[in-house]
Amino acid sequence: MKGILLAGGHGTRLAPLTGAISKQLLPVYNKPMIYYPLSVLMLAGVREVMVISTPTHLPLFGQVLGDGSAWGMRFHFVEQAEPRGLAQAFTLDPGFHGTEPACLILGDNLIYGSGLARTLASAAAAARRPGGGAAIFGYPVRDPRAYGVVEVDGGGRAVSLEEKPARPRGHLAVPGLYFYDGSAGERAAALAPSPRGELEITDLNRTYLDDGLLSVERWGRGMAWLDAGTHESLLEAQNFVRTVEQRQGTMIGCPEEIALRSGWIGADDVLRVADAMGDNRYASYLRWVAGPRDGPAEAWA
Ligand code: TTP
Repeated sequence: MKGILLAGGHGTRLAPLTGAISKQLLPVYNKPMIYYPLSVLMLAGVREVMVISTPTHLPLFGQVLGDGSAWGMRFHFVEQAEPRGLAQAFTLDPGFHGTEPACLILGDNLIYGSGLARTLASAAAAARRPGGGAAIFGYPVRDPRAYGVVEVDGGGRAVSLEEKPARPRGHLAVPGLYFYDGSAGERAAALAPSPRGELEITDLNRTYLDDGLLSVERWGRGMAWLDAGTHESLLEAQNFVRTVEQRQGTMIGCPEEIALRSGWIGADDVLRVADAMGDNRYASYLRWVAGPRDGPAEAWA
């Protein structure tokens, strides 16, 4: 399965923070924001990722992420000249995914919680089946008006999808994580731009809904979904990561750890990253991850 990470956009809601730097490279506590969605792709078993950003910022992502080999992955960097919508991701370099299944994630989404790996594995398995359709998620939020909203029937099937509705039909927002079978590229290419001039992800998802091929898994309160697109939500995300990491002694969104546990790299590779970093808490954590891990997790802190 191919991964697509959308890290472009204007970041206007975060101005003036985004005057010179991409939103997705801003710090979320101890890591660049992009580490979190990238980790979700890794947990879904994705090793080949197209990273999309603006022509100005794309080289910075190359500097921060490298070519992926340190994590047993492969990154393919693609420019999006203008942010013309999330579904445009499928039309920028169709050769990358072709007719393979793909997982798309937004570069400012942080997803963490109990059962995450299981939900990712089952969505990925469904999308891998020929004609498997698309899988999205539904997350109850207090005010869903800023999001895509999915309405589900008593059997959990999607009934309607709306983008930023003024009067939402329900409270299930759609997080920025989507799994697609191999027909997404063709479907995206056939979409017409919306009145705001974008290829809307909701329109792409609606093609699957109309074909009876859209599944929705509802996330419960054990899952945290944060998007870090405003000043308030960025600080909330930072505090969330810091609180959980301090309490548990394990990191959220550490690519080296996921790569090691997935068997994509070895302990020596993790130590190499730590040594290149020098002496800081992130490097100490990597040394703990690469070791026998028989001490308490806080030993690195
Ligand atoms: P948004 O938060 O909707 O847009 P933005 O990042 O430009 O922020 P703002 O509204 O404050 O101007 O985008 C969600 C994510 O998707 C974010 O990580 C940026 C990314 N994105 C793209 O990469 N390309 C696009 O065409 C769009 C619309 C978003």
